[in-house]
Amino acid sequence: MRDKPVALVTGANKGIGLHIARELAAHGLTVLVGSRDLRHGETSAKSLGGNAGAVQLDVTDKASVAAAADRIRKEYGRLDVLVNNAGVSHSGTPGKPLQEIAEAGRMSVVSLDEVRAVFETNVFGVIAVTQAMLPLLREAPAGRIVNVSSTSGSLTWNSDPANPHRKMFGTYSASKTALNAITLAFAADLESTRIKVNAACPGFTATDLNNFQGTRTVEEAAREPVRLALLGQDGPTGTFSDENGPVPW
Ligand SMILES: NC(=O)c1ccc[n+]([C@@H]2O[C@H](COP(=O)([O-])OP(=O)(O)OC[C@H]3O[C@@H](n4cnc5c(N)ncnc54)[C@H](OP(=O)(O)O)[C@@H]3O)[C@@H](O)[C@H]2O)c1
Repeated sequence: MRDKPVALVTGANKGIGLHIARELAAHGLTVLVGSRDLRHGETSAKSLGGNAGAVQLDVTDKASVAAAADRIRKEYGRLDVLVNNAGVSHSGTPGKPLQEIAEAGRMSVVSLDEVRAVFETNVFGVIAVTQAMLPLLREAPAGRIVNVSSTSGSLTWNSDPANPHRKMFGTYSASKTALNAITLAFAADLESTRIKVNAACPGFTATDLNNFQGTRTVEEAAREPVRLALLGQDGPTGTFSDENGPVPW
């Protein structure tokens, strides 16, 4: 077993996940770059230096999730931090303008197949990966799970008619609301363990997810997820926050 803590970041071959991985490696953790395309993951892991490796991981593929958990146990012997970062804003290929994504994801017009595809990655994928990694996380001295969520999923904010972004509340945002519920459910279920489970919003960040229309950098976006990944023993569990503090559910 490694003497240094080990972290797995899903969807870490690019975007916010890659920067979370970079920061965790800089903090001295051994970082596993989860990537559905192993070659992309390996290239990204190399860019992080000696403290990183790549793991093939498609969060929607049961066999891939099980194989990743097996490999981590066999090769690394421990897992201390899981960052559920992998996410999609729609089921198509990157390059769609944000307005188009929001339009197509409106609840009155979106197809059930599309809703299922988005929830498959953003919600069910998180449950599958978390359950598969729990045996390792339970053995860790300070297991930490961070779910990368979004303030766009806040029911409190979106039920306020004065919120100008409310029109964008559709398939993607609803998947993040569901992710928040899942976060709370895991936190409550694991309350008697050493594991802390929290949700973080990285803020509106320029990545493929929004056709690079976001206004924050990946460096800024990684701050809150990394803070929660490195929480001390007296840190909270079952919270939802961004860099400015708690976000209403
Ligand atoms: N950007 C923002 O403004 C913003 C705001 C709030 C929350 N977030 C959240 O931040 C997280 C990271 O997003 P990002 O902005 O960095 O977007 P991104 O650059 O598009 O990165 C998304 C990552 O998720 C991976 N992924 C997608 N489906 C997957 C699957 N089935 N299995 C494994 N990995 C999968 C992608 O892998 P491939 O390269 O293989 O596609 C990619 O590595 C997401 O959960 C997103 O919802 C982003």
